[in-house]
Amino acid sequence: MLHRLALGQLPPKPHTTCYENNKLLMEQMITREGFHGPYSVLYYRVPPMEESSVEPFALPGYCPVKLLDEQPLRRRHVKTQDMKPAGDYLSGRRTLMVSQSLDLGIAKPISNTGRYFCNGDGDELYFAKEGSGTLESVFGYLPFRKHDYVLIPKGTFYRLKVDAPGATLLWFEGRPEIKIPNAYRNAWGQLADDAPFSHRDFGVPRELVRHDAGEHGKGPWEVVMKRSGRLTLHRFEHFPLDIAGWDGAVYPVTFNIHDYQPKTGLVHLPPTTHTTFAGSRFVICSFVPRVVDYHPNAIPCPYAHASVDMDEILYYVEGNFTSRRGIDSESISLHPAGVTHGPHPGTYEKSIGTQRTSELAVMADCYDPWILTAEAEPIEEKDYHLTWVDKKATPGGWRPE
Ligand SMILES: [Fe+2]
Repeated sequence: MLHRLALGQLPPKPHTTCYENNKLLMEQMITREGFHGPYSVLYYRVPPMEESSVEPFALPGYCPVKLLDEQPLRRRHVKTQDMKPAGDYLSGRRTLMVSQSLDLGIAKPISNTGRYFCNGDGDELYFAKEGSGTLESVFGYLPFRKHDYVLIPKGTFYRLKVDAPGATLLWFEGRPEIKIPNAYRNAWGQLADDAPFSHRDFGVPRELVRHDAGEHGKGPWEVVMKRSGRLTLHRFEHFPLDIAGWDGAVYPVTFNIHDYQPKTGLVHLPPTTHTTFAGSRFVICSFVPRVVDYHPNAIPCPYAHASVDMDEILYYVEGNFTSRRGIDSESISLHPAGVTHGPHPGTYEKSIGTQRTSELAVMADCYDPWILTAEAEPIEEKDYHLTWVDKKATPGGWRPE
């Protein structure tokens, strides 16, 4: 929820008649937390309940998820740069890690599809590491560009189109929600002036989707729905995004990571200083280029960290990753609670005296342990856990060349 928005035709009051060309429109409410949370009110030209068929469905690699049998406790490195581009935003999705509250994966679509999606399990957050495109949803068109987050509320009918092959999308599914942290708002709901972003930084839908046979086909239209970790395929004889108008506070938004206003302290500030989105059991943070700590004896590189309550993942986007060796753009590191993580040998000392960092990365901390899926297994660097052994300090070394 960002603020109230309205698009298209609306009656003066909710739950009253709304006609278009003498035809009564069907009002639909999308509500969160029963009827107590944020909501939007949509006006459909054809009632959204008119599915002509429903059947079980599966998207291999995405859902249902296949977990790895053995999950030893160790620091892990999943090399998503080794994933081959394939499919579209939906068929090309690969689930890499799952927890009770936050799943994540990658899609590298090379095509677009006429198939729509509706996630009934949680909110979705894409991060466009590469590429641009448009989210088409019941709330309208929402263009996105490189390094945008795209936050899509649970229950939204949508498809995501890329402008060209070569897109790389990190995605999260957060349950029960992914939202802008309450701490960034004043008592009136407005984003506070000391928040790391303002209302102006968010992209919102500006134009409703109108059916175009060339663009959307002639039907029937397929919507893949996800609920309880299972998929079903729903067919509609009418265009499922055929909305005459809507208003409310539930709708998708974009936010470019470079619009995040980072904070720097006299000495090192904890990573949660960079929180961008949050759920009840996780945070998603943005590390952007910034000035680092300015105490004359500050050590800008993060200290060794025993995170005893939360697992941590980091998706490396670009720049110099000051604390890690062997990590490259598109790497995902998983540092689970229970084992200490920290800078690689040499990087801690080397950071002293530096004044800026150029790193760009997305981090998530989660109270619920992450489990790797079978999709992550072939692209995992298996001995990453041991890469903290300093070869120079350990005669003979430990690692085969
Ligand atoms: Fe950490």
